[in-house]
Amino acid sequence: MGKITGEGLLIVLILVAVSTTDAQPKSLLINCGSNSSVNVDGRRWVGDMASNTNVTLSSPGVAVSTSTLSGNSIYDPLYKTARIFTASLNYTVKEVQGNYFVRFHFCPFETGEDFNVNKSSFGVVVNGLKLLSEFDVPGMISHKNMDLQSSGKNASSFFLVKEYILAVNVDLLVIEFVPTGGSFGFINAIEIVPVVGELFDGSVSKVGGGGGNLNLNGRAMETMYRLNVGGPEIQSDQDPDLWRTWEVDSSYMITENAGSAIKNHSNITYASMNDTSVAPLLVYETARAMSNTQVLEKRFNMSWKFEVDPDFDYLVRLHFCELDYDKANERIFRVYINNRTAMGNVDIFVRAGGMNKAYHQDHFDTVSSRIDNLWVQLGPETAAGAAGTDALLNGLEIFKLSRNGNLAHVERFDSADNLVGKSKARIWVGIGAGLASIAVVAGIVLVLCFCKRRRKESIDTKNNPPGWRPLFLYGGINSTVGAKGSAGTQKSYGPAASTRAGKRFTLAEIIAATNNFDESLVIGVGGFGKVYKGEIDDGIPAAIKRANPHSDQGLAEFETEIEMLSKLRHRHLVSLIGFCEEKNEMILVYEYMANGTLRSHLFGSDLPPLTWKQRVEACIGAARGLHYLHTGADRGIIHRDVKTTNILLDENFVAKMADFGLSKDGPAFEHTHVSTAVKGSFGYLDPEYFRRQQLTEKSDVYSFGVVLFEAVCARAVINPTLPKDQINLAEWAMRWQRQRSLDTIIDARLKGSYCPESLSKFAEIAEKCLADDGKSRPTMGEVLWHLEYVLQLHEAWLNLKSNETSFSSSQALRGIQDDGGLEVVVQEPSSHDEEVGLDLKQN
Ligand SMILES: *[C@@H]1O[C@H](CO)[C@@H](O)[C@H](O)[C@H]1NC(C)=O
Repeated sequence: MGKITGEGLLIVLILVAVSTTDAQPKSLLINCGSNSSVNVDGRRWVGDMASNTNVTLSSPGVAVSTSTLSGNSIYDPLYKTARIFTASLNYTVKEVQGNYFVRFHFCPFETGEDFNVNKSSFGVVVNGLKLLSEFDVPGMISHKNMDLQSSGKNASSFFLVKEYILAVNVDLLVIEFVPTGGSFGFINAIEIVPVVGELFDGSVSKVGGGGGNLNLNGRAMETMYRLNVGGPEIQSDQDPDLWRTWEVDSSYMITENAGSAIKNHSNITYASMNDTSVAPLLVYETARAMSNTQVLEKRFNMSWKFEVDPDFDYLVRLHFCELDYDKANERIFRVYINNRTAMGNVDIFVRAGGMNKAYHQDHFDTVSSRIDNLWVQLGPETAAGAAGTDALLNGLEIFKLSRNGNLAHVERFDSADNLVGKSKARIWVGIGAGLASIAVVAGIVLVLCFCKRRRKESIDTKNNPPGWRPLFLYGGINSTVGAKGSAGTQKSYGPAASTRAGKRFTLAEIIAATNNFDESLVIGVGGFGKVYKGEIDDGIPAAIKRANPHSDQGLAEFETEIEMLSKLRHRHLVSLIGFCEEKNEMILVYEYMANGTLRSHLFGSDLPPLTWKQRVEACIGAARGLHYLHTGADRGIIHRDVKTTNILLDENFVAKMADFGLSKDGPAFEHTHVSTAVKGSFGYLDPEYFRRQQLTEKSDVYSFGVVLFEAVCARAVINPTLPKDQINLAEWAMRWQRQRSLDTIIDARLKGSYCPESLSKFAEIAEKCLADDGKSRPTMGEVLWHLEYVLQLHEAWLNLKSNETSFSSSQALRGIQDDGGLEVVVQEPSSHDEEVGLDLKQN
């Protein structure tokens, strides 16, 4: 099935307990929101309004159908309809017992004004087991696409499939969809496919040994990733018993060159006859082996990195098949999971019992609450001497195991599709009651070893505080970067530092300013915690950012960042007033920006639209702030997350950059060689940054170009509900701009009230900012200079127009125009020297 599952969106529940030998269980395929059946992927999907099924619907919800489809998948016919629910909705499925794959298909759609899928949020519970909570489909899709983009891949998916494996002990499957308070949810299709054969053994050994075995009995599973390593995507219809999708592995590799794809179509057979359902043979026909091992320095690994949810156990299944060698001792290697040896001295020829034998091995590992990724690495067997210089992997699956009846976790995305609160503000929804029909029995060994691990972690935390960097500096960047400890640099906060860093507030002052962190004063929420509107020093409004008290905090880095921020003072940067660091609290106090984000004045709110002049001025203000970051006091600071939600407007609509302060050689970048570790905001990302893995000021220029187009078109930079060619604003606007017809897609509310020449200049600048090659993009100084020119053109036009208007005796226009009467002489800029731009008047 299309690309989504390829991105690890599957979920699975498990099935060790085997059941009755009654009737052969059948698949149940439900086409939601429809009374007709469709044939897709060779199977028949029955409408959920059809009467002759085993499925009952507790309430009708709303059935919708849509013609704007961008799923781009073989399942598109299914995605034409959906069922929407604004209150809890159950699908009750009769006559199911045993082990099942349960898949949920979600494809965002447009339904006119009634339901905005971007605002949907819901949970899914099956037989009492919580699978999803506060689930945000479009946010998740954007996030996955961002991951793909950040690893240099272009593919975009616009639908999502979640896959689970469930053991159903009663005769009934009750699938409950629950909208998050006040919101709504939707579902396009449900797939219930019986597991044939045995997928899992009863117990699995823990990575690193010592920890005993994991008893899989009764543990539900979610498929996180399923990869056909070294080969093409295997679509569900090529796995016709279980209908799994196997995605391409390369986008998860740290360095794709570390392993070369190999294939072999000769007669591959299963090493064990019990394994026939473990994976289709196609998976074993391709592999990745370590390339050029004769010439390269032999000490490297093939590495894959996966984003996972903290605080769960994962089952990692490795699929192998020796395709090259027909004898033992040719290829001996080691497998690491999360830096620890999972398998040593691996010779697949020996383990599988020959060449071309399909073989697999499972391991489990626990991912702690502070970790949100999982690494799988294959490398030379250090102990084996000369023989061990090559490694091989054919397939890989990662399953999340339920814990206490819960598989759900909550991802939060801010308005610009950032994942916020990653491992910081994650909200866990506990499940209170026991499970009605899915037994959850964790093996005692596991419980014991888990307890031990916990204790060790908490001790480690004390001695070695993990690095903490105020996340607000990153905007909503998924910050796994720099999660390493910084114990060595820990020092106490001296008074000298506080004088440099603005005012040092006491916690009492902050509590007074925020009315004891009154929820009604919250004006923003991010990964770091919340932002409150407060009043300091007798009524001066301030934005008070409080680091989540549960976040892991490193004082040293907090200090460094404050020092850096406090050095950056500029009319177009939101300024830091002070901070509070007391009783484990880390709080920053900023000037309050009365008019909020630029984005909120462009679209998505009821605020009156900005005039063209106001938009240009806001862009100029932001450009000045960025120009200062790039060239000013602390030269060479790259903002790294330029977007309209990081451009704030004060009470006079003066624009200022917020969330700046990342020095390009700062400690935050210690891990940037890992391509997936660093993220900006989807839709604003500089593609060159991913090609070269190098961040420069020109990446900010690129993002700023997207901001410019956003100011013209007043729409989201990514809108998955639009037709495919319009989803990405940068691409769409550039297509029009290359035809010199950006005015076609200009915000309709600007029509007639802007100087056409100024728009075409403005568009030219935006186009230059989006040049593929960073070197050909202008500097922020040049951008600024040209924007000033745009403003002059427009002002001259306004003057002309207001004169004409007054001559024609209509005074009506005057009210909405900015100023009149002055004669403006417009001169084309003759110099590209950025200093010229700097010297221009402040607006
Ligand atoms: C491979 O990865 C493991 C685990 O991260 C590491 O200990 C080992 O040194 C790496 N081997 C090489 C050759 O880089």
